[in-house]
Amino acid sequence: MSATAPKSAPMPEDIRARKGRLPLVSLTAYTTPMADLMDGICDFVLVGDSVGMVLHGLSSTLDVTMEMMILHGQAVRRGLKSSMLVIDMPFGSYEEGPQRAFRNAARLMTATGAGAVKLEGGTVMAETIHFLTQRGIPVMAHIGLTPQSIHTLGGYKVQGRGAAADQLLADARAVTEAGAFAVVLEKVPETLANQITQAVEIPTIGIGASAQCDGQILVVDDMLGLFTAFKAKFVKRFAHLGDDARAAIEAYAAEVQDRRFPGPEHVFADTAPAKGQKA
Ligand code: KIV
Repeated sequence: MSATAPKSAPMPEDIRARKGRLPLVSLTAYTTPMADLMDGICDFVLVGDSVGMVLHGLSSTLDVTMEMMILHGQAVRRGLKSSMLVIDMPFGSYEEGPQRAFRNAARLMTATGAGAVKLEGGTVMAETIHFLTQRGIPVMAHIGLTPQSIHTLGGYKVQGRGAAADQLLADARAVTEAGAFAVVLEKVPETLANQITQAVEIPTIGIGASAQCDGQILVVDDMLGLFTAFKAKFVKRFAHLGDDARAAIEAYAAEVQDRRFPGPEHVFADTAPAKGQKA
């Protein structure tokens, strides 16, 4: 194999085996060019149902459909060679029971080439996770703040404080026993994230859950400063692409209005150039 050959994408078992080792790196992606940028840098790339809020302007993830997930999953697949693709199961596609969850998970995986699905819920989803993993569908669980349950949780609040910590620990244990290969912990206090990470044999992937986790995930548009509708405490902006894009759009508008753009270098001559010369 040549030194420049792309490494092959990890499998769920490789992700699981990273427990307690080098922290896992992951981001969301929804398009081919963004997936291409993170390919081989992220261990896995999540087509999150956050796509509904980030790209489609929806007010929550509840209106995201299977069709949206498949379309964005296919786009992301085209940009990945060396990172594993994980795809979110949208609200309403799995909660009813294991059989329905299997049909929709299989559809998501076959239509997009994803290596695994992610679904929200702890103890209550254990039976479904067991059913899926026994039938060839690797599952990443997601507990803590589960945005699809926003109406029952009463807002995007920190989860697992005080007496609620025991339930979250029980949830983490339940999804592990059910066969999940990793578990996302969203908006969980640091001490509890550490406790859960020590208690389960699968990697914990934190988002707002501290560096005690076995890996991290962020919404890519948040960390690039592209999605600025709100800023969560746990998001670090590693770039300010939204500000750069706005400045570029304003510069373009000014040049169009001053007739400085298009300039001579952007204009075609009346006659075709001689062979070997630029058009
Ligand atoms: O939908 C999403 O983006 C997620 C997060 C864990 C990043 O589920």
